[in-house]
This record gives sequence, C-alpha cells and structure tokens, in this order.
Amino acid sequence: MTDTTTPDISPWKRTHYCGVLRPEHAGADVCLMGWVQKTRDMGHLAFVDLRDREGLVQVVFLSDKAALIEEAKKLRAEFVVGIKGTVRTRQARNKDLATGEVEVEAKELKIFAASKVPPFAVADPPQASEELRFKYRYLDLRRPAMQRNFKLRHDAALRTRTYMSGHGFYEIETPFLINSTPEGARDYLVPSRIHKGRFYALPQSPQIFKQTLMLSGFDRYFQIVRCFRDEDLRADRQPEFTQIDVEMSFIDREELFGLMEGLMATLFDLVGEKLTLPFRRLSYAEAMEKYGSEKPDLRVPFEMKDLTDVARTLGADVLKAAVAAGGEVKGLLIPGAAGLSRAQLDKLGDRAKALGAKGLVWIKKQDGFKSALKLAEGELASIWAALGGGEGDLALLIADKRATALKALGEIRRTWPVENAGERRAFAFAWLTDFPLMEWSDEERRLVSMHHPFTAPLDEDVPYLETDLARVRAKAYDLVLNGVEIGGGSIRIHDTALQRRIFDALGLPPKETEQKFGYFLEALNYGTPPHGGIALGFDRLIMILAGEESIREVIAFPKTTSALCLYTNSPSDVSERQLSELGLKLK
Ligand code: AMO
Repeated sequence: MTDTTTPDISPWKRTHYCGVLRPEHAGADVCLMGWVQKTRDMGHLAFVDLRDREGLVQVVFLSDKAALIEEAKKLRAEFVVGIKGTVRTRQARNKDLATGEVEVEAKELKIFAASKVPPFAVADPPQASEELRFKYRYLDLRRPAMQRNFKLRHDAALRTRTYMSGHGFYEIETPFLINSTPEGARDYLVPSRIHKGRFYALPQSPQIFKQTLMLSGFDRYFQIVRCFRDEDLRADRQPEFTQIDVEMSFIDREELFGLMEGLMATLFDLVGEKLTLPFRRLSYAEAMEKYGSEKPDLRVPFEMKDLTDVARTLGADVLKAAVAAGGEVKGLLIPGAAGLSRAQLDKLGDRAKALGAKGLVWIKKQDGFKSALKLAEGELASIWAALGGGEGDLALLIADKRATALKALGEIRRTWPVENAGERRAFAFAWLTDFPLMEWSDEERRLVSMHHPFTAPLDEDVPYLETDLARVRAKAYDLVLNGVEIGGGSIRIHDTALQRRIFDALGLPPKETEQKFGYFLEALNYGTPPHGGIALGFDRLIMILAGEESIREVIAFPKTTSALCLYTNSPSDVSERQLSELGLKLK
C-alpha cells in the first residue's frame, strides 16, 4: 500500500536554493523547493515569488501551458511547492532583489502542502505585534531577517569552537541538574521523584564545575552552554540564555583579555568589522567618575568632569550649598550643542529630576555665555576652562550627592541622541576592571558578592576583608560593548583559607557554608592551580552583531518579558498524578 500522506519526493531533487540564482545560471534547468511568498494572476500569465532560507526568486508560468497555469492559480501565500523550470534573464530588472536579474520559467509544479491564511504576512520588517509573532513563531522565523540572524548565530558558534579549540581549549559538558549555585539570581528548581522533598536546581552558570575542571587538570575549558536564571526580564535578559563559558589555569588577567580579544576579532570579522586591539581598559572607579555607569557606552564621545573644587570658589548658592552638604558638582560638556532651545533644556532639567537629582544647571557659549544660573563672566569662564569648552558648546551641571549626580548626568550622557553625539564608532569595547568585591543588597540587607563568592580580592585589599569590607576591590572584570555587558569573569580564589575568610566576610554561618559549598572547599585542598575565567553572553553578542535591539530576535523560541512561551503555552499546569509522584501538593 502506498502512503498517500507522504509525497513521493524522489523525482523532486532540489538543484538550487531560490536565493542563489544569478544571470550566470541563465539557461540552466533547475528544481526549486520553497514557500509561496506572493502570487500575481495576469489571466494568461501567472507569477509566483518563491522563498526559501537563501532568498526569493520570481517564477513565471507562461500562457502556452494552460494546465500548469490553472494549477499555479491554486497557489496561496505559504503553500509549500516544488518547481522545475529554466532560468532566464529578466527584461524588467528588480533592483530590490538579489535574484532580481533573473526569473524561472516553470515547466512543472508540485504542491507539497497547502497553508491556512497566515495571521500575518511573512515579510520584513515584521508586520505583527510581538505577541502574535511569538504565538506563530514558526511563521515569524520564516522572515529573511530571522533566517539571517540564525545563520549568523550558527556561524558565530562554529567560529567560537574553532578558535577555542585552536587555542587548546576542550569543550566539556557540565550537568544541568545540580545544587543551587550562588550567582545572585533565583534558581529554577526541579523536584526529585526518587528523593521526594528534595530538589535539583538548573544551573545559573557552570561556575563551580568549571573551576572543578581546573582542579582536575584540564587546564583550558570552554562550553557553549545554556544557563537558567529566574530573574526579571528585559530586552537583554531571558530566563534561559547561552554563555560562551571559559576557564583557564595558570593565567593572569591580561592573558585572558588577549585571548578573548582575539575571539571578538574573529567573531566581528563575520560582519566585516576589523576590530582595533587591544580594547580599552577602564577601572570601575574611573568608569563611574567619567560615565556614571559600570557599562559605559563609549560610542558617546563625551565624559563627565568633577567641578566640586571650582564650585567652592563661585558665588552660586545652589552649588555651594550642595558642596557644603557633602555633595559634589559634576559637569558634562557636549560639544556643538549650544543651539538647544529653552524648551529642550527645560526637558533635560525635568529628566534630571526624574532621575533623582534636585536640578540641572546649563551653560552655553554662543556669542558670549548664557546660563540658567546667575554667575559672573569670570566664574563662567573658569567652569568653561575646567570643562575644556569652546564656542558653540553646551555644559550640563548637577550638584548633588555624588552617586545621584553621577547617575543622573551619566544617564543623560548615555541616552544623548546618536546624531548629536559626534563621531560614533559602530563597536566600542572596553574591559571594566577592579570592581568592588561586595555590593549592598536591599533585599538581603547586607553586603553580597558583586560577582560570586569565588572571586579573588585584589592582593593589596585583602587586609581590609575583616575591617572595611566595602572598600575591598576584586580581581573581577566585565567586557562591555556599546553600553551592554557582554561578559564577566574573574581570577578565582584558589586557597581554602582565603575562601573561608570570604564566606565569613559575607556573614554566612559556617554550617550553611559547609552545607552549600563543603564539597568544593574540600576539593580546593587537593592541589588547586591558580585559575580564572569569564563567561560571555552569547545571545547579547549575536544581538549586537545582527544589529538587533533585543536578544529575543536571536533566540529561536524566546520567552516574553513575563517568562511565557506563547507558542507552547509554557509554563503549564501539571496533573495531580505528576504532582503526587513527586510528593508535591499545591497551596
Ligand atoms: P555573569 O553572571 O556576569 O557571569 O554572566 C555572564 C554573561 O552572561 C550574560 N547574561 C545574560 N544574558 C541573557 N540573559 C540573562 N538573563 C543573562 N544573565 C547574564 C551577560 C553576562 O555578562 N559564572 C560567571 C562567569 C565567570 O565568573 O566566569 C557568570 O555567569 O552578558
């Protein structure tokens, strides 16, 4: 018996992808497979635009084949067909299509599958809301832009593997069902059926395992690995995401930076970009002072300057009062922006207030100084000199608590419109170094590890671990690109005694430390090489390479910002039986 539901594909062997046909193929007999993009019925003629993953080509059905034209007239958008025909050059060339100089004259047509009328047209830019796109993700993924993004993602993964392997790294898989890892976000828990009442956690990262692999002597490890974090989502955060995870023994920070810079160069070469190496290095303190951010967008060419000392000498009460109250005055010079209107400047003032500052002072030099603040000409000139201002420039000043002034002015800097930012480079990388070891957590009401508790403190700061924890800096670093944190890592603690001091400093009761990390502290006793590593956010990297605004555009089946999969409707209810097998009862 023949199976009527499965078409006999054997006489239909594809010879070319639609998108590759060019004038040099003229005269060739081809067999194409694809989806119908569009049909045009001209009565005696019919045109069909056929699409596959490589692109689109026009197919023409000529009047001398009446039966074939009748068949072609049955076609609708998203039908799956095979077409045999001959390539010929086109009279009216379509400049918008890569295949626009040719068309295929159809000789045979096979309809493999019909399609319901799709809820939105498969075309760039997307024609539907994100909600609808995610519900019908399979249709959304047919768009040329999406097909391009996933080819890029594939190419980048392949290059990463080749590069890392070429530098002596082994890809080693680490488990997904593990104990809770201390990365700061919430864990996704998986109940154990065999050990009722006990739970695995999905890894927030393979941190402990990759460090353990160093103890095991593998020396250089990497993995393109999925990580899971139950945290609030936004454009560059997903509950499951992919890292290029790296760990190495016997290295210092600079060696690791060099290796990662080489990886970036090979990845950015995929989009024709030649990176300038090495990347800029910037301490956390310097980044906060100049940009008010630990992930500064260095495409915006201006920097903040401290004007606190200058402000002390001025007659302006607002500035003086802020300084007297222990505050600082920060200034941002924006070259060529003196032309901003009063209304635009007022808007900036409102923005500063919305960002928590008490107010914003502006000064501009355009045929003499103009300012929101009453200051003598000489005083304005001294501010101008401190900022290095010229004719036609605008200065924005905030006098407030240091953190508030830096944050507000930093945010105004970060979001300064592209066209006004002067020379914007496409890709601005920087290594951020010497982060604080600890940061304050409002939720836990104590200092917590800024990266994770295995991060080594700077040698010169170790004496402050017990006396002034907040001032201790870490051998931790982030890789920042265009204001996005695309990677983070550190040199690790490889000494049990120091590791215990860190746990003590974190205020973790010894019993809890033992329970959570006892196995790892024990492991550290058996000959631990000095080691360090990094993890790069693979989705974020691809997002930037692809020129997208969200990592959802480079993840095939992403979750919404409320962590739902609209295609499969996860998370979903489970049966009473499943719950009871796991020994669980819902409240
Ligand atoms: P970290 O937590 O900094 O470090 O993560 C490394 C990089 O992963 C990316 N990233 C994310 N991408 C998408 N969605 C998320 N929810 C998300 N969270 C993080 C970021 C980030 O820079 N174990 C350490 C690395 C180490 O110390 O070696 C770690 O995971 O680009």
